[in-house]
Amino acid sequence: MQQAGLTVHVDAGGNLVGRLEGATPGAAPIMTGSHTDTVFDGGRYDGIIGVLAGIEIAHTLTEHGVQLQHPFEVVDFLSEEPSDFGVSCVGSRAMVGLLSPEMLAQKSPAGQTLSEAIESVGGRPKELGRAIRGPGSVHSFIELHIEQGPVLEREQIPIGAVTDLVGIRRYRVVITGQADHSGTTPMDYRKDALLGASILIQATNAKARALNTDTAYVVSTVGYLTVLPNSSNAVPASVEMMLEVRSNRNSVLESYGDELFAQIHAEIAAEGLTLDASSVSYGEPALFHPAVVELIGDAATERGYVSLRMPSGAGHDAAYLSKIAPSGMVFIPCLNGRSHCPEESIEPEQLKKGLQVTLDSVLKLDTIAGFAE
Ligand code: GLV
Ligand code: MN
Ligand code: MN
Repeated sequence: MQQAGLTVHVDAGGNLVGRLEGATPGAAPIMTGSHTDTVFDGGRYDGIIGVLAGIEIAHTLTEHGVQLQHPFEVVDFLSEEPSDFGVSCVGSRAMVGLLSPEMLAQKSPAGQTLSEAIESVGGRPKELGRAIRGPGSVHSFIELHIEQGPVLEREQIPIGAVTDLVGIRRYRVVITGQADHSGTTPMDYRKDALLGASILIQATNAKARALNTDTAYVVSTVGYLTVLPNSSNAVPASVEMMLEVRSNRNSVLESYGDELFAQIHAEIAAEGLTLDASSVSYGEPALFHPAVVELIGDAATERGYVSLRMPSGAGHDAAYLSKIAPSGMVFIPCLNGRSHCPEESIEPEQLKKGLQVTLDSVLKLDTIAGFAE
């Protein structure tokens, strides 16, 4: 960031922020960025290209002696992936004032609170009672990201102009049974917590499938489980898992967990098990500003690239920035639509096109004094 001419600091939320000053005194900054953390065994592009794109744009502006009217800020947002605390988009939530005291108190398996972790990377969690940036304090936000799905590649379209993002809700669920000898405990005498987990997993899969319609998108996943004692010759005593549900409908996210837990209650109890669930994070679906979506489409057209208006099933920092500033995202294709796995890959040419469109969009944003509501 410093080599690109940016002045760098870590904000109260632990975000790394680089800034180029603009020509108009007092103007709010145009912001870009994404995240450099990854899921376990994830790829090298999810998030990272959005941070590098911001730095490269700053380089390009500096090299060409171009000063924007607005300040230009590049942000590496803290911990966008769910991390050890079950909370995703930690830095972008903090930036807009949506990191709650309950989230800050979440503990990692090692017993560290999220608040302590933010402090350990140079943030100031005590200042997070209010937004680091309020509405109007950021002129606009744009994020370049890989699609993480198959649509652009299949349609052979180089640029996606993202219209909206799913909301994401996560629950921590603990199913408790009893550890017993796997050889001597007859099937009818067991309290097998992992059997309870499988009841929940089957039920959430069926429920999410049933809720999908032409306009409602619903997916649900149990991707994290801790089984105790996790021994091949002991009946599982407890399972802790994260249940995730994503939808473009807030009404689905509001009621999903309560409905699901009520639905399986009798079956869980019949196995001699108990189920405790708590909601650990909730991000509402987000709509991007139509003017920013259009401007990204125009920037693509002017470069001679076909673009597609599309929704996102992945969560992104831009969802939180859209709470305080007109926001948008540029998607580029990725190999076989794969992401959150080591096979994640892109071609340099695909990235170049995305970067050009992002740069041109920043230049277009700079000409806009204010956005209509
Ligand atoms: C972010 O990677 C997400 O979970 O969608
Ligand atoms: Mn990701
Ligand atoms: Mn990402």
